[in-house]
Amino acid sequence: MEGTIQTQPAATPVIHALRNIGYKAQTAIADIVDNSIDANANLIELVFEYKDGDGYIFIKDNGRGMNDTELQRAMTVGSKDPRETRDKNELGRFGMGLKTASFSLGKRLSVLSKQNGILSERCWDLDVVSKHNKWYLYEKIPDSIKNNFPDIEGENGTIVYIDKLDRFSKAGMANPLKRNSYFAKIKRIREYLELVYHLLLTESLIITVNGNKLKGWDPFLLDMPDTIREKVVEGEKQAFRVNGKRVIVRPYVLPHPSNYNKTEFEKAGGTKGWREHQGFYIYREKRLVTFGDWLGLFKKESVYDLVRIRVDFLNVSDDDWKIDVKKSNISIPEEAKENLESIGRNYRQMSQDIMLYRTKRASGSRTKKSIGTLNTWELDNDDRNGKYVLNRLHPILSEVIDKIDDELKKQLLLYLNLVELGSPMNLFEIKNLIKYEEPELDSKLKNIIIFIADELFKKEPAISVDELVESLMLFPQFESVGRDMIEKIIIKDVIND
Ligand SMILES: Nc1ncnc2c1ncn2[C@@H]1O[C@H](COP(=O)(O)OP(=O)(O)OP(=O)(O)O)[C@@H](O)[C@H]1O
Ligand SMILES: [Mg+2]
Repeated sequence: MEGTIQTQPAATPVIHALRNIGYKAQTAIADIVDNSIDANANLIELVFEYKDGDGYIFIKDNGRGMNDTELQRAMTVGSKDPRETRDKNELGRFGMGLKTASFSLGKRLSVLSKQNGILSERCWDLDVVSKHNKWYLYEKIPDSIKNNFPDIEGENGTIVYIDKLDRFSKAGMANPLKRNSYFAKIKRIREYLELVYHLLLTESLIITVNGNKLKGWDPFLLDMPDTIREKVVEGEKQAFRVNGKRVIVRPYVLPHPSNYNKTEFEKAGGTKGWREHQGFYIYREKRLVTFGDWLGLFKKESVYDLVRIRVDFLNVSDDDWKIDVKKSNISIPEEAKENLESIGRNYRQMSQDIMLYRTKRASGSRTKKSIGTLNTWELDNDDRNGKYVLNRLHPILSEVIDKIDDELKKQLLLYLNLVELGSPMNLFEIKNLIKYEEPELDSKLKNIIIFIADELFKKEPAISVDELVESLMLFPQFESVGRDMIEKIIIKDVIND
């Protein structure tokens, strides 16, 4: 073009800059797996070979494969325009991942692909690129490594093979990774994949690592035993739009730690532990991009350990969420902040309530299900005077009641009755009742007075009426009933019984 000088980027510095864009081994591997998923593979096999630190990694899939032209394009740095509209569900965006992810692991990337039975191959060797400072791409994969390639059995499929693992296993360095550290690293990669693809790892997608099938790890515990799964509070699913595009939010509040056995508790805590797993889980096309993060909206504290909030957006919203090349980072669009903050605040409160063994009256935005199960106080449906009663079906209370014997249960329920009667709101009601209406005593209150007086009387049969009245007057809940009424009840319903 007139007035311009065409300026080619120099190969060596660009390649080395691209190697340093900040992939971790796990995010790099996931970026390559994304390509296989985009190619509609339903079997993706990952193999990590050690060989004294200088091993190799390959990712083999049975997806659609590439013909020669497509493979040539795929191996080009910047193979697609990031502004292109991608297919529904497509995970790729930048036309970079295959190269940048592979180069962050090792210096040689070889790809063998088969489409309709025809094989194509290419190979980048960064030692050669660096030496010549030119984008020299091999048309053939060196025979020396081709021996390690497995067959592509069907008509279609691809093998992405990475070796010269100077980054992944410090091959060729003074201290290459020892066998144990190498396999510990693979274990972490495996766990990461089990999390980021948990929604996609269904019957239609199998991923194996060194022959072991991955099993999705569901952060919302919906795959845990019924005893736990049934206690997960699924908040109301909410949808809103950002820049006209749909975002779906599904909040989850997990059961209190007392509900798990040791193994379940550890599993539910995830690889990084409970604290690191609280927060938003942001999915793009069902693939988890970032997790266990309040994304700058809140701080992490252990009382919020039970909240995990699923947020889903589509690849048409990539610009709004500023997804990065590594697919491991986003930032919340301004338009979504207010909604996510208010949802987050609500469910954090719920987690805190459960953790501190108390709940508040649910606000309007909480679901019916959660109102029923998590309120400690509820309006007594049978009471015309709007009295509050404790929710006897509260999960924590139910749990405690299940665990104790009948005698303790009786005492606990008695105590709860006293708490109900002693609540400031109910005391106010009772006072009003006594003051303005015929002092017909509430039958529940009367029964509790009888019950306690009975218990005291059984323990000390020699106790006098006066002493019984005195003892009962010590309960603030009975203050409003008055000495005379209590005495009357004791004489009529306790002593004379
Ligand atoms: N396993 C595979 N099977 C079939 N085609 C593939 C495979 N891996 C890569 N490709 C093709 O190569 C192209 C380039 O892949 P690359 O990962 O570099 O970029 P991308 O997936 O388009 O975008 P991103 O940089 O966001 O990953 C893909 O768009 C796809 O067409
Ligand atoms: Mg890709």
